[in-house]
Amino acid sequence: MMGDYESRGAFRSSSFYLRSKRAKILFDMELKYFQSRVVYQIYPRSFCDSNGDGIGDIPGIISKLDYLHQLGVGIIWLSPVYATENHDFGYDVTDYKAINPEYGTMEDMDNLIAEAMKRGIRIVMDLVVNHTSDKHQWFLESKKPESKYHNYYYWRKGRKNNTRPPNNWTSNFGGPAWKFDKDVGEWYLHLFAEGQPDLDWHNPEVMEEVEDILRFWLNRGVYGFRCDVINEIWKETLDDGKHQPFGFLVGKEHYLSKNGNHEILRRLYDDVFSKYDCMTVGECGYVNYESANRFTDHELDMVFSFDHMYLDRRFAPVFKKKYDPAKMKQVLVGWQKNLDWNTLFFENHDQIRSLGRYTSLKYKDLGAKMLATVLMTLRGTPFIYQGEEFGMVDYPMFTPDQYVDIVDKYVYKTAKKLIRIEKVARRLVHNMNRDNARIPVQWNSSVSAGFSSSKSTWLPVHPNYKECNAAKADADPKSILNYYRAIIKMRNADPILIAGSFKEIAAPKQILAFERAFNGESEKVFINLSEKEVELGFNLASYGQKILLSNYEDASLTEKATLRPYEAIILK
Ligand code: GLC
Ligand code: CA
Repeated sequence: MMGDYESRGAFRSSSFYLRSKRAKILFDMELKYFQSRVVYQIYPRSFCDSNGDGIGDIPGIISKLDYLHQLGVGIIWLSPVYATENHDFGYDVTDYKAINPEYGTMEDMDNLIAEAMKRGIRIVMDLVVNHTSDKHQWFLESKKPESKYHNYYYWRKGRKNNTRPPNNWTSNFGGPAWKFDKDVGEWYLHLFAEGQPDLDWHNPEVMEEVEDILRFWLNRGVYGFRCDVINEIWKETLDDGKHQPFGFLVGKEHYLSKNGNHEILRRLYDDVFSKYDCMTVGECGYVNYESANRFTDHELDMVFSFDHMYLDRRFAPVFKKKYDPAKMKQVLVGWQKNLDWNTLFFENHDQIRSLGRYTSLKYKDLGAKMLATVLMTLRGTPFIYQGEEFGMVDYPMFTPDQYVDIVDKYVYKTAKKLIRIEKVARRLVHNMNRDNARIPVQWNSSVSAGFSSSKSTWLPVHPNYKECNAAKADADPKSILNYYRAIIKMRNADPILIAGSFKEIAAPKQILAFERAFNGESEKVFINLSEKEVELGFNLASYGQKILLSNYEDASLTEKATLRPYEAIILK
């Protein structure tokens, strides 16, 4: 366990901070570590393969720590590395205290924690406790009605003489949320895949088990948890849900962000989180300002909200609609104004890539640098998803035999059944394809993009890897990667960007403009979220004298009253 003193020691230990006058200010402010650092998400299966089996692993991650250090990140969020059945690649845990042998051993994990720490990087794990795997020992035991584990899950008799599910809920991944087990003669609840039975948090023993797991990892030196679908764990009732368009998430009003959910998290906080120097971030779908504020008040440190990821969606992730930059501004500003400390992110392992989604690929580099500027200058903790930092883009189009992800397969099957047009089915999968962000990271232009020494990798390598890879980006001073490095370096050392207040500056609807102020000093940020040149209606020079950073090299303040496509400027 790391005490408060030690953690602040770590904060100070980087030589930069010791030399800097600003260090003292930050130190005196007692900011938490995660508030002054950038997080990098790793999807271990796709990050780096050290032994040539085509699957990423922990030694592979260790081999890239210097790269991450150079990028300037202070925290790694690891998608699950626990033992798993791979129904959902780690989001179905079979043993919370064991490492997936495909990824390495417990010794490798301890090594990772230690090696990262040497570089000033802390490891955050994924905590998946809405459900376990159907091959978890608890679930296997739970099939015996007399076992205490029977009450770890939602086992129920069905309706109509046990021939129909106990209620009308649908799973997040589609289809009914209940599965009948012949041997048990009962149904079990799964808000996700069938292989992911939901734990029953009404049972106090479940709470004890989870607290034990948390302590196990925190005592090993882990810095905290990203808590998977954490605002769904408390099912208030098992009553029927009301009608939803396309039957998507029927029942959600009975389990999203309920009071009992807050009580559980408050308890985890009191019993465990508050006793450690750690960070927690909860994945909270459909969360509003009010419950986000509650979730971050002595429950979790931060929440991932997804309003900005629904901007180009209708009803469900498979249905796309046109993206409107003005709406992005509204959403971002809304969260900045209504929550004291936000998570800042555009990508993760469940989403399609941000380039081409929130920007036009016509301006690939400018767009990527613009998004980087948003992430690094708003108030909150920035999260980068692997490959985002050098501009990885969507995989062209998977053929159905290439789908690996359980959701992709389900969507394809369902779409084929309902619509019967092959092209449309593929398009619907393509709209939300989760395999897409999980293709191997493109490290260089050698075999399998340097991800693996093997030609055959668990998901295909993007055909653009010779053009788009970390080594090439590293060598080009004007690359997206080098912009990320520069802006992270700037943020890491800038109390205004880290701790400053947020105030919106009035500007046209596609222009995200705001002031960050701290200790009597301020910086102003102007970002054109759109691909069109926009007239500002004022001269930028009226807001500052000096450009600290811009994604356009020739940006100047002389008579500047327009912003070019995706132009982003930080002014002092
Ligand atoms: C979260 C994860 C996702 C997973 C699901 C079920 O949304 O990010 O990858 O499939 O939870 O655990
Ligand atoms: Ca491997």
